[in-house]
Amino acid sequence: MRVRIVGAGYVGLCTAASLAYLGHEVTCVDVDPEKIAGLVRGELPIYEPHLAELLAVAPIPVRFAVPDDANAASAGPPELVFIAVGTPPGADGSPDLKQVAAAVRTITQSLGDGLTVVVNKSTVPVGSGNWVGSLIDDAQPPGARTATVVVASNPEFLREGSALMDSLYPDRIVVGSDDARAIEALVRLYQPLIEQDFAPPPFLPRPARTGRVPLVTTDLASAELIKYASNAFLALKISFINQIAELSERVGADIESVSRALGLDARIGSAFLQAGLGWGGSCFGKDTAALVATAHEYGLSMSIVEAAREVNYHQRARIVERLLAELKIMKGRTIGLLGLAFKPQTDDLRDAPSVDIARRLLARGAKVRVHDPVALPRARRELADVAFELCDTVDSVFRGADAVVLVTEWPEYAQLDWARCAKAMRTPLLLDGRNALPRDALTAAGLRYFAVGR
Ligand code: UDX
Repeated sequence: MRVRIVGAGYVGLCTAASLAYLGHEVTCVDVDPEKIAGLVRGELPIYEPHLAELLAVAPIPVRFAVPDDANAASAGPPELVFIAVGTPPGADGSPDLKQVAAAVRTITQSLGDGLTVVVNKSTVPVGSGNWVGSLIDDAQPPGARTATVVVASNPEFLREGSALMDSLYPDRIVVGSDDARAIEALVRLYQPLIEQDFAPPPFLPRPARTGRVPLVTTDLASAELIKYASNAFLALKISFINQIAELSERVGADIESVSRALGLDARIGSAFLQAGLGWGGSCFGKDTAALVATAHEYGLSMSIVEAAREVNYHQRARIVERLLAELKIMKGRTIGLLGLAFKPQTDDLRDAPSVDIARRLLARGAKVRVHDPVALPRARRELADVAFELCDTVDSVFRGADAVVLVTEWPEYAQLDWARCAKAMRTPLLLDGRNALPRDALTAAGLRYFAVGR
């Protein structure tokens, strides 16, 4: 099918690569001409494992264009247009929909005569589908109307770092519309994913137990709410285990055992029960705030989600308090942070706990040194206002440090030469903010080791 994707960010590029791999004709447009020029040269604006490889092996290459050239670049007007633009948080917590409105303007300038299905893939508040529909109607006055446009919501559940595995082998596909033609088109588009009858790319092998992918077809509002409810529930799970971890520290229990036993109850499940510094990233913070804001609009309180947010951001303050309890004085201390990205396998710094922790330490007069295997170039561009020292080597983080905190659990950090690290530090204190390091090896090497909830 002919597909246009508006927005060449995470969701847009991963969706474009996956749909092209399945044999659809995909044109991806973005208003940023520099980004498009880079993509045409084969340069990706984000770090995502295997994205470049998937784009390279797609049987129909993805075409990249600025909106004005979109129709000329593609083989004809699209049957489906995906809106995959950013919806950053506005001042009151509700998402800023300026980019969505701009995307809709772009779409209405290049409609064909037949049916066009406009699909919201950006995370937009409940009710936005109807709003997009009304913007499209406004842009085509009744007398001049030749195109038939129907709106659908098709939320994405991609995790950064494994976005392509999540695209090709999803747990479920959710398609919502109040128009049967939109649902029919999307089901046709996703048929190879639903049936799992495509040959997997060698570098993204199909997980062993992947069967037919469950499809949920529903109305527009339900699809929109499914996305928020899913993210909020995952966020709740993380905050729940982090609050139990705090109690665990007080009563002398071990959160890793508690979490493992909890997760073995099939009704609870083991995923998203890893205690630590809590969530960051572009989704959980923004989507939980948006859900709370939507509930308020309807006179409801989403108190359980508000509590999860409070617990999450408390983790960042708590780690600084623990450092203070150990070091007593923060002024003049040197603190090393391992990891900048909000999680491993990405260079995304949005709402990253590392940045929050660094700012708190700097405000208390400490020097802060940070390492990350992939996010340093992005940090140099985006975080020039933060007075931390970005270190190209792990050694420079440990050299002369009074304490080192593991903030992002990149696998390479679990395999350091601990005796060497201990020797390089002024005081050999290590706080494992993700419970990811080999405790016995660290203590054997002479480090004082602290973790979360243990
Ligand atoms: C999330 C959702 O998982 C995805 O479905 C949605 O489409 C976008 O938001 P993402 O933000 O990329 O994806 O990462 P995810 O793997 O969900 O992790 C989010 C944060 O939670 C990370 O900071 C991670 O470190 C943290 N986390 C995750 C925990 O602290 N504990 C856990 O047990 C799991």
